[in-house]
Amino acid sequence: MTHPLAMLTGEEISQASALVRADRRWTDGATFVHTILREPAKADLDARPDRQVEVQLVTGPEIDVTEIVVSLTRSTVVTWDVVEGMRPTLLMSEAVHAIFTTKEHPDYIAALARRGITDVDNVQIDPWPAGAFGYEAEQGRRIARCISFLRTDPQDNGYARPIEGLIVHFDLGRKEVIEVIDHGVVTMATQHARYFAPDCEPLRTDLKPLEITQPEGPSFTVDGNLVQWQKWSMRLTFDPYEGLVLHQVTYNDAGNERSILHRASITEMVVPYGDPAETQGFKNAFDVGEWGLGRMTQSLTLGCDCLGEIHYFDATLAKEDGEPYVIENAICMHEEDYGILWKHVDLFGGTSEVRRSRRLVVSFISTVGNYEYGFFWYFYQDGNIQLEVKLTGIVSPMAIEPGTQPEYAGVVAPGVAAPNHQHMFSARLDFDVDGTTNEVYEVEAERVATGPENPWGNAFRAKSNRLDSESVAQRETNSATSRSWRIVSPTTQNGLGQPTAYKLVPTMSTPTLLAQPDSSVGRRAGFAQHNLWVTPYAPDERRAAGNYPNQHDGGDGLPRWTAADRSLVDTDIVVWYSFGITHFVRPEDWPVMPVEYTGFLLTPFGFFDRNPALDVPPSPEGHCHANEQHKRDSA
Ligand code: CO
Repeated sequence: MTHPLAMLTGEEISQASALVRADRRWTDGATFVHTILREPAKADLDARPDRQVEVQLVTGPEIDVTEIVVSLTRSTVVTWDVVEGMRPTLLMSEAVHAIFTTKEHPDYIAALARRGITDVDNVQIDPWPAGAFGYEAEQGRRIARCISFLRTDPQDNGYARPIEGLIVHFDLGRKEVIEVIDHGVVTMATQHARYFAPDCEPLRTDLKPLEITQPEGPSFTVDGNLVQWQKWSMRLTFDPYEGLVLHQVTYNDAGNERSILHRASITEMVVPYGDPAETQGFKNAFDVGEWGLGRMTQSLTLGCDCLGEIHYFDATLAKEDGEPYVIENAICMHEEDYGILWKHVDLFGGTSEVRRSRRLVVSFISTVGNYEYGFFWYFYQDGNIQLEVKLTGIVSPMAIEPGTQPEYAGVVAPGVAAPNHQHMFSARLDFDVDGTTNEVYEVEAERVATGPENPWGNAFRAKSNRLDSESVAQRETNSATSRSWRIVSPTTQNGLGQPTAYKLVPTMSTPTLLAQPDSSVGRRAGFAQHNLWVTPYAPDERRAAGNYPNQHDGGDGLPRWTAADRSLVDTDIVVWYSFGITHFVRPEDWPVMPVEYTGFLLTPFGFFDRNPALDVPPSPEGHCHANEQHKRDSA
């Protein structure tokens, strides 16, 4: 029998689409936006309920989304709702139309001609989500703002030469250019920005092979989408919006299957740009709600994206005609050596004990236009769970007059700059630490005044404050006080009588949103105005900026839900962590950016009674020797 959290199959997607097309409310010409596994509510999971799928349609050029729930078990349409005034993610077919239709428009060709560009074939057009700025062109339409770049040939890196000053407003639904706006010609950069190996010669010649081998295979097992490794167990699914989703993450503690996370994923991310120029200020991509991290995922390649004994999971999504397609090798899973796990040399006893750390890596990489985002979940032998986001790809550039120094951008090449921007992610962490009822405490260091109780002035203690309602649970990080948040089971104690808990640790300094709160992106990305939010579990509260942020005026998602200021005491809670980086672009980020990292750590805090990794065995004999030949050679 199919597990309620099994990945959607191609047959299931076809069945769902057929049920939708056979319904009397189906209209010819409707387009399938996304087909998503409708996960059962937590309370229903054990009952093995209906297998359900949510289908989203657009039925024409208007700005409605049709949301349909289909029961695969019963072969019926359960609900069919039109959500008025909402725009789903951009459609790929419409984005392609925007590119080819724009290239044929006389105003666009004339604007190119004013820049001396006649080779329209090598013009690269990037359709961007439009945002919501109150332009006439936005009203009642699904639109894109198209910006342009010039390639020398189809394989060239077009971002070397932004065609500055030129923006096209394109009506995606009606497939027509609304207006071509020319803010004025800026000198075209001349340097190329290619990054293929032949473009980067001479290449280094001193790298010796480094092989990762596991002659007996990896230490994990896979059964469908159920993964077990060391004492960890979890299920993996793949969502067109969120990409990889982790479900039912548990740790086997001496035969006791203890729950930690019911569900974990990235539910939104936004890239607000900080340059007010007319051609830059509109840029603020919501890469989940406007593009879809899952849909934009590309297949991974053995030996390059992941190294070692790899297990790949394919992801099956729906095309815009409702038929399934497979992203092969969408999710990569493997083990990594991670240095030392623990070590001590007893100087008196003369003993030395060390254990090597190994982690399970589950990852996928999404390519959203110019940028790539790698999402790497790590599971460790000491109970740690970590999410590391790797940002790479190409920064979004603009042309500047050579020799000028922009106020809101960093110069990366002669005549090319990249605007200041942020990458703000929202992780939705549905904790079930030892059961569904959890509470969240903010814990931070508190200094104590020098006095009779503290005569040396050295004292500091952990101050702990339970976050009792949604309004008090909107919090920022504070590295000066080592602020963290503990997700506590109020009903379970460890062997020392302490409540069992996991701690959310901001491992890297993280900003909140820098745009003004009442600005367009400030309203639309409300989730990024605080690092921490906590909500009571509600199955329909899924994505931090709301279901449909595309051209949305804002206020949806976390700000709207938490306005009710619901209680967070003695209930099932969901933690939302907003984290990211503020990117002042540097020359070293050009022409392709070395990976920049952000993320967070979840670490057990009294979840166990002592170091849970004492039972990791020593490395086998013969694995800890130095290279004798090398030592002799260098002596
Ligand atoms: Co960046």
